[in-house]
Order: sequence, then C-alpha cells, then structure tokens
Amino acid sequence: MTTPETGILPQHLLGIEGLTRDQISLFLDHAERYASFGARDAAFGRPLDGRTVINLFFENSTRTRTSFELAAKRLGADVINMEVGASSISKGETLIDTAVTLNAMHPEALVIRHADSGAVALLAQKVNCAVVNAGDGAHEHPTQALLDALTIRLRKGRLEGLTVAICGDVAHSRVARSNIHLLTTMGATVRAVGPRSLVPSGVRAMGAEIFHDMREGLRDVDIVMMLRVQTERMQGNFFPSAREYFRFFGLDREKLALARPDALIMHPGPMNRGVEIDSDVADDFERSVIRMQVEMGVAVRMAVLELLSNRTGREVVK
Ligand code: NCD
Repeated sequence: MTTPETGILPQHLLGIEGLTRDQISLFLDHAERYASFGARDAAFGRPLDGRTVINLFFENSTRTRTSFELAAKRLGADVINMEVGASSISKGETLIDTAVTLNAMHPEALVIRHADSGAVALLAQKVNCAVVNAGDGAHEHPTQALLDALTIRLRKGRLEGLTVAICGDVAHSRVARSNIHLLTTMGATVRAVGPRSLVPSGVRAMGAEIFHDMREGLRDVDIVMMLRVQTERMQGNFFPSAREYFRFFGLDREKLALARPDALIMHPGPMNRGVEIDSDVADDFERSVIRMQVEMGVAVRMAVLELLSNRTGREVVK
C-alpha cells in the first residue's frame, strides 16, 4: 500500500483543535484503507519495520494502549510498553528527563497518556520523534475523535450535515472536546447535552449548542454519543445519585425514540451500564456501533503512526 503525501501534517498529533479539514481527511482516508483490509492482510506491507514505537501511559487504559500496540505491531514496528509504576519515574525522575531518555533511544514515535492537560504538549517540545497524544487530562484525545469520525463516516457515508448529540459528563471529557473540534470542522452540527453541573458554557465557544433537557437534545439527531461519568476526575458531588442521573441523562429506549429512527449509538468505553447507558441499547447491534469503534481504533492508529513517521524535515531538539 502506498503512503500518501504527508507534507501538510504537523510533526505531532497533540489534539484536533487547529487541524484543517484536509489534515483530518488525510488521516481518515488513510485509516479507511487500513479498515478495509483483514487483520493479517499482506497488503499492509511493514512500513515501520525495524523502527520502534514507545507507549508511555501514566494513566490506566485498556483499549487505547492495546489498540496502539496492535496498530504499531501490524505496521511491523517493535513496541515498548513503559510501565510507569516500575520505571524511574517512581524513583523521582521528572517527566521531562524520562522523555529525553526515551528520545535518546531514537524511537519513531512516542505515544503518551497523562492525567494532566498539557503534559503531552510539554513533552513534545523536548523530543524529536513524533508524539501522539493518547489522552491528556480533560483536554484532548485526538485518535478517539478520529476513530469516532471514521465509524460515523463508514456507517453514514459522510460527516457534513449530520447532527451529533454528545451526552453526559462533557466537563471532564477529553473525548467530547476532541469530537467537538473535529465534527464542527468537518461541517457537522454538535449538541452538548447534560446536567448544568457537567456541561461547561465554554463548549459554546467551540461551536456546540447546549441542552440541559436530554429529550430536547436528542430530538432528530443522527448520532447519540454517550460519555462515561468520570467520577475519578470529580471532586465533590456533581449529581445526587447514579439512579437519579440515569433517570434524567441515561440513554434508554424511551429517550432514544426521540432521535432519528436510524440514529447510531456510540460510547468510547469503558461503559457504566445502568448509569449513562442501559444495556438494552448498548447491546442493540442494529443501532449500537460501540464494537465497531474499537475496531476502527486500530485502523486509525495505524494511519496516524504511519503518516507521522513519514514526516520529513523534523526539527532537531537541542
Ligand atoms: C476514554 C478516555 O480514556 O478518555 N476512553 C478511551 O480512551 N477509550 C473515555 C473514558 O475514559 O471515559
């Protein structure tokens, strides 16, 4: 498979904010080619053969880390998963020293997840390999937005002109932020739906409309994207109880009936069943594309790793 011209891409993928339609389309088009192959297809070639990808995860992750690992391996790269707990960080080494040390091993890419917004961008300034943000605090999670967009595009044939409701804990969600940037850039209409305590008014400036009544927010939408209630990021109580939350903001058949009859259900995972989503709708394989999102994650990460590895003219960090 040939690699497209990558000159328009940035050195790193730190977020969706600031990317153009052409840059987003380049990632999606290349990922779609990977998605159309079987997992063991020889047509992949091994474009990263002999190169190294390092996964540096400071926060727990199941699907994102394994998905990056699988993507890099399918491209032929050697993959190192840094266990932060067992690394020199636990001996007091700073974040920056760790990144500089790893950079000296000349990896092709560093994939980083960190609990603090902005930490990944800080590290990117200290290395000369490509850096991919695998989620930084409540800021951005660009590959999640790309895999969501690829899933929507494959099922609906387009992004432009669709109405997408992003529902629930928008305030703590990097997934919501990256998706709002991506979908509005690509010409979709985005609604942020949730309780007042969990939908910051700042999302309006990002181009989203705000709804505090889920029934109104879901009316006639093409896509219902549910978010996990991220209690680990909450200090104090943002809603009275899980039962109360489900009653007003959990996705069930009755609320889903207000969306378009062909509306798709999405969730980035991990799901809290019975809190933000009812099992009955999560497992409805006509409408729910939650498994497809996971599958598209591998294709998107293959595309991102390959395209960023092929960037030439990288600045050398002094
Ligand atoms: C998301 C994350 O980590 O931001 N999960 C994921 O990457 N699949 C969403 C979440 O944790 O709720």
